[in-house]
Amino acid sequence: MKQLIFASNNRHKADEIRALLNNRFDIITLKEAGIEIDIPEPHETLAKNASEKSSVIFQLTGKDCFSEDSGLEVEGLNGAPGVKSARYAGDTSDATQNNALLLHNMKNISNRNAVFKTVISLIIDGNEYLFEGTCSGKIALTPSGTGGFGYDPLFIPDGYDQTFAILGLDVKSAISHRKKAVDQMNAFLKTIA
Ligand code: IMP
Repeated sequence: MKQLIFASNNRHKADEIRALLNNRFDIITLKEAGIEIDIPEPHETLAKNASEKSSVIFQLTGKDCFSEDSGLEVEGLNGAPGVKSARYAGDTSDATQNNALLLHNMKNISNRNAVFKTVISLIIDGNEYLFEGTCSGKIALTPSGTGGFGYDPLFIPDGYDQTFAILGLDVKSAISHRKKAVDQMNAFLKTIA
């Protein structure tokens, strides 16, 4: 089975991606590959951050790898938190703090349209390939649900009236930004397998 290093230690993302690839590939996280590194995300776009993460791991290992950078863009906040989604409430902030700040900043904002975006940077034999996926929805008035991670308790995808955190992995895996980006990567991997 082809092994791909996933340039991340986010267990939730790794689980989602393994399921989305139907376990056709041996996806190992940085920790599982024995790599201890905290790769910075200094850039202003998801694509540049994703490229940085995969190229750092390729330079370290010389092995096929991929990374992904994701974020939530809220229309009424001019695209915030966007590329800063993980650190919205500060460099050491957790999801509860980020969600609380998002709700606070949206207190007087009626346009609750939002979009999740994922960019994947895949490096195979030293060449980089980029894949993108988006998922549109709305920001709920209060958090609900215990599934998923990050902003899932606040994000109601279009076509549903519950948050990703309530809908769970089955629904998320069918319609999410990550699903759409991974599908593209999967289709590409099939052409070179
Ligand atoms: P990064 O891609 O590791 O920089 O993190 C992106 C951040 O965006 C995460 O820490 C979450 O806050 C948020 N995020 C990305 N994808 C999702 C998702 O599928 N559900 C909920 N939040 C997400």
